[in-house]
Amino acid sequence: MIRKFDFLIIGSGVAGMSYALQVAESGKGKVALVCKTTIEESNTSKAQGGIASVTDMEKDDYRKHIKDTLVAGDYISDPRAVEQVVKGGPAAISRLVEWGVNFDKKADGTFDLHREGGHSEFRILHHADDTGFEIQRGLIEAVLAHPAITVFENHFAVEIITQHHLGIEVTRRTPDIECYGAYILDPDTRKIDTFLSRVTVMATGGCGAVYASTTNPNIATGDGIAMAYRAKATVKDMEFVQFHPTALYHPGETHPAFLITEAMRGYGGILRLPDGAEFMQKYDKRLSLAPRDIVARAIDKEMKIHGIDHVCLDVTHKDAEETRRHFPNIYAKCLSIGIDITKQYIPVAPCAHYLCGGILVDLNACSSIKRLYAVGECSCTGLHGGNRLASNSLLEAVVYAEAAARHSLAHLNEYAFNDRVPEWNDEGTLSNEEKILIAQDAKEVWQIMSSYVGIVRSDLRLKRAWTRLDLLYEETEELFKRVKATPDLCELRNMINVGYLITRQAIERKESRGLHYTIDYPKHAYDQK
Ligand code: FAD
Ligand code: SIN
Repeated sequence: MIRKFDFLIIGSGVAGMSYALQVAESGKGKVALVCKTTIEESNTSKAQGGIASVTDMEKDDYRKHIKDTLVAGDYISDPRAVEQVVKGGPAAISRLVEWGVNFDKKADGTFDLHREGGHSEFRILHHADDTGFEIQRGLIEAVLAHPAITVFENHFAVEIITQHHLGIEVTRRTPDIECYGAYILDPDTRKIDTFLSRVTVMATGGCGAVYASTTNPNIATGDGIAMAYRAKATVKDMEFVQFHPTALYHPGETHPAFLITEAMRGYGGILRLPDGAEFMQKYDKRLSLAPRDIVARAIDKEMKIHGIDHVCLDVTHKDAEETRRHFPNIYAKCLSIGIDITKQYIPVAPCAHYLCGGILVDLNACSSIKRLYAVGECSCTGLHGGNRLASNSLLEAVVYAEAAARHSLAHLNEYAFNDRVPEWNDEGTLSNEEKILIAQDAKEVWQIMSSYVGIVRSDLRLKRAWTRLDLLYEETEELFKRVKATPDLCELRNMINVGYLITRQAIERKESRGLHYTIDYPKHAYDQK
């Protein structure tokens, strides 16, 4: 089946829905919003801490937020992207509020601001400790109410369409690669439909699910990055995978693991060893509020020194009522596994959380492929550099969705539908009866990435990951040619592609910088011990 939409958006998180609403409100065309499971399931809906923005102009200012972002990014962020996102903050917050998102306020009507690691001021807007859920809820309501937007749930984007599909050879050096839409699998009919578009927007989120332990839901398999890379788009900064220092340690619940928000350390939570001893003084003068790469590495090191599988976060010294009020979901979750956080330490360990790199885009969110935009976690805007400052990603997604909407609307007349695109051809392929191959290979990817491409890396570990991923790549590509495409097979293929990109770009970076820490090129004195 062939479908035609002026705007095709792949992904229904904060990035995809913000873009969808803006182009729909322009009245300039029909919008398709595609998501591979339900419209609710996304990294966005899991966000806890909040969204960073300078809103209290008396105490805070743009220069401080810019500086905090550059420091966290280990000075390799693109300053133009940092300025665009930080200064776009208040307008982005206003747009979210107009679309129906609620942020907590104080009695005087101003926003109740939290503080998180690496922030020099209180500037995190939040909705208790489930900010992402509230953002997702508000945007879904606005999207479903808009007549120009058609939502396709449970539709899996398999490949984006370029000249390659017209039989023209496309390499990484081809100058004018263009995107004409995407091939999308409808699991009900088991057919791959052709979605033709004038503008295609990748908003597929991150790839934490390539690791064995992650805060990301299972959908975060890096599909958009893998699709764009296969279509010869430029992909950058993949080595910068952020590990959140404090996921709840609860064996059996690692994929995904429940997050204990960084706002809890901003609130006064103290990191301790299980025997109560503090340890952050050994690593950074900001103690528990140091940026999360430093805290995650410190915890990783303490766990190795003491042979333990978690450390603890302590809020027992805080007022119990206040703790329950600020963190109702964390309180309830911990209580459900027998931990009363007002009286007991919370067991925590680091796990994969966020990808700073992705599809390289300019200030208008344009990728290196014409008519293909990328927004949100799948993109690499340069904002995060070597490491993301907490709560900057929701903000980046909204600001860049606006930039992409503005640019694509201004250029829409130059983009025509390409009616020569052929339909997907899977003649001669068979149904795959051996699901075990896919499930087992996916677990292998998790183990390879966690063991060899984790918080602490080395040349040897990375080479080992590369060799093993290469073998999985050969086997999976052979299977993909032979059998009918299914979501799990496509995800496996994408996970292998993304794992390969993280590993290769990590091998290429011959220094420890930001989130990429390798024992072969140590950075800080304490790292060499
Ligand atoms: P997502 O919200 O992940 O949406 C991705 C969408 O793409 C989904 O709809 C999915 O179905 C779709 N998709 C993916 N692949 C395909 C495919 N092949 N075909 C069709 N559809 C596809 N950031 C902050 O700034 N503040 C926070 O407090 C914060 N807390 C976080 C807490 C947790 C537990 C996690 C996991 C992340 C947190 N983050 C936070 C990061 C932030 O939530 C994400 O970076 C952001 O929400 C990503 O939004 P997105 O729109 O790019 O992608
Ligand atoms: C958190 O709440 O700790 C997550 C914040 C973020 O990832 O930005």
